[in-house]
Amino acid sequence: MQFIDLKAQYAALKPSIDARIQRVLDHGQYIMGPEVAELESALATFTGAKHCITVASGTEALLIALMALDIGLDRQAGDEVITTPFTFAATAETIVLAGAKPVFVDVEPDTCNINASLIEAAITPRTRAIMPVGLYGQVADMDEINAIAARHGLAVIEDAAQSFGALYRGRRSCALSTFGATSFFPSKPLGCYGDGGALFTDDDGLAQAAREIRVHGQSARYQHTRIGVGGRMDTLQCAVVLAKLERFEWELQRRAELGARYRQALGRMDVRQVVVREDRNSVWAQFSIFVEQREQVQAALKAQGIPTAVHYPLPLNQQPAYAHFCCTDCTPHAASAASQVLSLPMSADLSAAEQDQVLAALAQALRQ
Ligand SMILES: Cc1ncc(COP(=O)(O)O)c(C=O)c1O
Repeated sequence: MQFIDLKAQYAALKPSIDARIQRVLDHGQYIMGPEVAELESALATFTGAKHCITVASGTEALLIALMALDIGLDRQAGDEVITTPFTFAATAETIVLAGAKPVFVDVEPDTCNINASLIEAAITPRTRAIMPVGLYGQVADMDEINAIAARHGLAVIEDAAQSFGALYRGRRSCALSTFGATSFFPSKPLGCYGDGGALFTDDDGLAQAAREIRVHGQSARYQHTRIGVGGRMDTLQCAVVLAKLERFEWELQRRAELGARYRQALGRMDVRQVVVREDRNSVWAQFSIFVEQREQVQAALKAQGIPTAVHYPLPLNQQPAYAHFCCTDCTPHAASAASQVLSLPMSADLSAAEQDQVLAALAQALRQ
């Protein structure tokens, strides 16, 4: 069994993906070819955001958003960005790379997303932005976060690397704040066959800035108006995502069904689960549960051929590279979640029979 079955997805979409790739090989515009604008238009429509700017990866999307907002530009200013420590490193990494300081605020113990009620206390005169993460595929409390940001004149960058496609109060992840940033890493809910990502915004000026930053800060050829990066998503990867979009709604539906099926069965087994709030859904980029004897359970599942993963074993403020930005014990809920979370196999192509196998093996592992 695969943790995420990408081969089955390719098999289902082979004619469209192959045709899309062949078209790029035929026209030969590997950089900024027509598929780039086609994908940007399709994704803007899908999310409801005014602008979509494809970029080289989810990491690059976050960095370009920060740069477009001039965060960290004046290295003396000591700009701060509030975020969660319970995330993939790229979230905080880009804040540091932009020249700012990540300020870690603890998560809610049930959803594992940043606790919006703790954000205001972390705001200082140096705070420039809030960067919530839609962990595991469920969007954080964006309305509350946007309201706090509006009161303090801050930007909100949604790290939607895991939540692309998710719904929040009837709106789509990525179209909820100043910037939405997502990843098309192959294992993400909407993945390509390499690295890729996208930025979303309703702000014309920020969209223009992001477009310039992704091509080395050029406002016209060899006219470098600002500092930028080599941050384009290549045409072949855009072609792959365009083909994958054809059955993306079906995949979201299938993920929802598999998620509900997991939840029902795990409920009967009294396994503690990540809570999904009633005003939103999860796209289950990861399907994670809490288990106390994690190492034993993981080993028992592995012995039965069930792959699992841990997202993430330590909050970032306990990682050597980030510990000096924060006290290491001031986010107790993130620390507790990190010691217990375990992700089970999940992808649109997981069969009900495979899921039953996971559940049976888990029930047995928990009895041991
Ligand atoms: C929460 C989060 N942010 C950012 C990223 C970075 O995305 P990418 O791998 O496309 O650079 C990831 C990807 O793993 C992620 O999970």
